[in-house]
This record gives sequence, C-alpha cells and structure tokens, in this order.
Amino acid sequence: MRTRRTVRTLVTVVATVLLTGGVAACGNSDTGGSADDGKITLGFSQVGAESGWRTANTTSIKEAATRAGIELKFDDAQQKQENQIKAIRNFIQQKVDVIAFSPVVESGWDTVLKEAKDAGIPVILTDRSVDSADKSLYKTFLGSDFVKEGRLAGEWLVEQTRGASGPVHIVELQGTTGSAPANDRKEGFAQAIATNPNLKIVASQSGDFKRADGKQVMEQFLKANPKIDVLFAHNDDMGLGALEAITAAGKVPGRDITIITIDAVKDGMQALAEGRFNFIAECSPLLGPQLMDLAKKVHAGEEVPARIETEETTFTQEQAKEALPNRRY
Ligand code: AHR
Repeated sequence: MRTRRTVRTLVTVVATVLLTGGVAACGNSDTGGSADDGKITLGFSQVGAESGWRTANTTSIKEAATRAGIELKFDDAQQKQENQIKAIRNFIQQKVDVIAFSPVVESGWDTVLKEAKDAGIPVILTDRSVDSADKSLYKTFLGSDFVKEGRLAGEWLVEQTRGASGPVHIVELQGTTGSAPANDRKEGFAQAIATNPNLKIVASQSGDFKRADGKQVMEQFLKANPKIDVLFAHNDDMGLGALEAITAAGKVPGRDITIITIDAVKDGMQALAEGRFNFIAECSPLLGPQLMDLAKKVHAGEEVPARIETEETTFTQEQAKEALPNRRY
C-alpha cells in the first residue's frame, strides 16, 4: 500500500518536473507531495539572497523547520515575481500542506493565491504583504510594520535637526521598486519629516536592497548633488555600499553625511558602532520559529490572528556598541 503510494507520488513529481520545467524546491526532502510519515510539508518561496537580512531570514526559516520537524520545500525566487508564482504553482501540484512566501512585490498575487485556496492549501504571508483586497486568500501575515520603521527613522532625524537654520538636503536609497518595505518605509519617513519644512528629499532612487546598487546610486547622487547632508537608506546593505561611494568622494560618512538605515544586521551594527552610520531602525529577520508555529496551527485548522507584528527597536551609536557583542545575525 505504502509502496504503491510512493510510486504514485514519484510519478506525480516526474510529471510535475516535465510539465513545469523543473521543481524549484530544494528543501529538506527529495520526495514530492505531503510526506507519508505524518510530517507537515511546508512550501516556502523566498524573495532571493539580496541582503544580509535575507540570508539571516533564510537561515532562521531552515533551522526552525528542522527543529519543528516540518519538511521544508525551499525555493529561491532570485527577486523575480514570475519565479515565485511558478514555485507556488509547483507547491500546489505537489500538494504541500501549507504554503508560505515573502512576496517580492505587493501587487499581482490574486490569481495564484486563488489557485492555492481552490486547492485547499492555506497560505501564510511572511515578512512582506500583498495588496490583495480579498483577505480570505491568505490566513495571516507575519512581519514588520514597515511604515513604522520609516517613521522612526524620520523622527530621529527631526529630533537631531531641531533648530537647524537652513535646509537639510536628504538623499534616499529606496528598496526594490514595488516592494512593501520600499513603499512603506518611504511613506513613513516622508510622514515624519513633513513636520519640519527644512528637511528636503533632493534625490530618491532604488538600490534594490543590494550593496552594489547602493554604491552605484550613491555615486550618482554625489555627482548630481553638490550638497548632501543626510542619507536615508531603506536597508543596511545599500547604506554599506553607499559608504564606499562617500569615502571615495573624499567625505567622512557619519560626520559629513549623516546616515540612517533600516535592518540592524551585524555589518550595519558594526558601522553604527564605529560611527560610520548614525541611526538604525531595526527590522528583525528571525521569523522562522513563529512561522513554523503558524504552519502547524493553520494545518490543524486552528484560527490564527490575521496580522502578527514583529517586535522591533531602534539603535543609536552608543546602543549599537552595547548590543553588537550579542548580535546573532
Ligand atoms: O523585506 C525586508 C527587507 O528585505 C529588508 O529590510 C531588506 O534588507 C531585505 O532585502
């Protein structure tokens, strides 16, 4: 009986591979479909590996799955929405028990989410949300409040520049265009600095959450803008890339240009403790344990809250010095 089922599962996997051009999943299991051993199978589509934050998030999810005894089918979408849609369809064909994903951009998910719902597979959004009007397409969203992160960054700047007589010229390195953290952090920061008309964003462009892009866009900012007082980078990695451009332009980061970022990964915290960054609003990547807990609950048909917000803080240079020795990622 078990042998026949295993053969049938194998046939399904082979058919899936042939039909879809390859199973993207490369998790803890090499069998398709729900496991015969009663383990929950979780299909997870990750955004990519664009930043230190993302690497820490992937590690958290893989480690938590192992600890929770959940069979993880992990897919790296390389920052492409079409890859995520393909991975989710593969998970549906493989009849995983639960699907989770961190959507690279906010829009364009309704069709594939409806396919998962029609197949009776619960979906959990993690880290980033979608803009679907139909909230029944997913069970819950676990992740940060990105608007709040942007607002905290902006409020710190408002506080620091209180009493500044002339205009304060700000450049902004945005995250991936169309992504929830880029949209929301921009919005939160703009809301906060609107309270002081001296604070002006003179240039704002995407650096795709990547270090290399942050460096390249900052070089352009420096060429085009003779006076830059502040850099607001939507993540540490872009800020770290920008440091190289600022130094190469003969300026001292953290002194000639005030640098505010988001995430608080180890490299960012190091830069902050050394005085090259000035302030970081935290975004925690350690979502794995909560995600596994939710996967078990939705699989068991239990009700879960529609929104679970990650707890986060902020860091000044002094606070970074204290926190750095115990920073896990
Ligand atoms: O969605 C979270 C964001 O994505 C992190 O701030 C950034 O570093 C990552 O790439």
